[in-house]
Amino acid sequence: MSAQAPIKRITTPEIAARKGGTPIVSLTAYTAPMAAMVDKHAEVILVGDSLGMVVHGLPSTIGVTLEMMILHGQAAMRGSQRALVVIDMPFGSYEESPKQAFRNAARIMAETGAGAVKLEGGTRMAETIRFLTERGIPVMGHVGLTPQATNTMGGFKTQGRDESDWPAHVADAEAVADAGAFCIVVEGVMEALADRITEAVPVPTIGIGASNRCDGQILVLDDMLGLSGRVPRFVRKFGDLGPRTEEAIAAYAEAVRDRSFPGDGQVYR
Ligand code: KIV
Repeated sequence: MSAQAPIKRITTPEIAARKGGTPIVSLTAYTAPMAAMVDKHAEVILVGDSLGMVVHGLPSTIGVTLEMMILHGQAAMRGSQRALVVIDMPFGSYEESPKQAFRNAARIMAETGAGAVKLEGGTRMAETIRFLTERGIPVMGHVGLTPQATNTMGGFKTQGRDESDWPAHVADAEAVADAGAFCIVVEGVMEALADRITEAVPVPTIGIGASNRCDGQILVLDDMLGLSGRVPRFVRKFGDLGPRTEEAIAAYAEAVRDRSFPGDGQVYR
């Protein structure tokens, strides 16, 4: 009997090498069973801080803690074998200084075993990204619409509607790439700006509400499964599990009430 070779996880250099190639498939996953399903089809699993809203019912990502990210990161790692798992650094865990960022990113990496962290911000975060990458922590950047900054941005607003803003967005992505990020999420920007950013940087761009010319795409899994309530306009629902789940719950409730459940084969005798 031949022993099965262990499945090798995708690495950050492998993702970086995908620039201009077959688009990178990425999805969020916050639990072991979901990570196991995503793992079969995606190269990158993001344990996004969107879990604050999607799983914990928070009004935004601002209240997400490092402990929440670590707990869900551990679950995603347990559920997956092949995909690169990237964990979001939550608001307040990295902005103060490069040293604060390193301390918290190192904790995420050590306690979860994930392959990289993601943090939001362009030029202003470049020094921190360099500090982390030079010390062995791979970083995924995140530019354009950065949800942790919605309080200063005045809400979830598409970026780059005004062409005069484009150079600053391109400079943000360039600064992040130059600081050593292995790839960059480009969120909620006008298509032409996403194209411009993708052309400008030597690392892959992963679009969300951006352009299909990005080097990959990411969606919040629950949004594309139809499990979330209101979703951004750009989200395509590839499933309709919200209504189907509720139908199943209603059928169970009815079966309990009319005593048709448990029935034959559903009780131990
Ligand atoms: O938190 C998240 O899920 C994200 C993706 C939407 C990119 O940052």
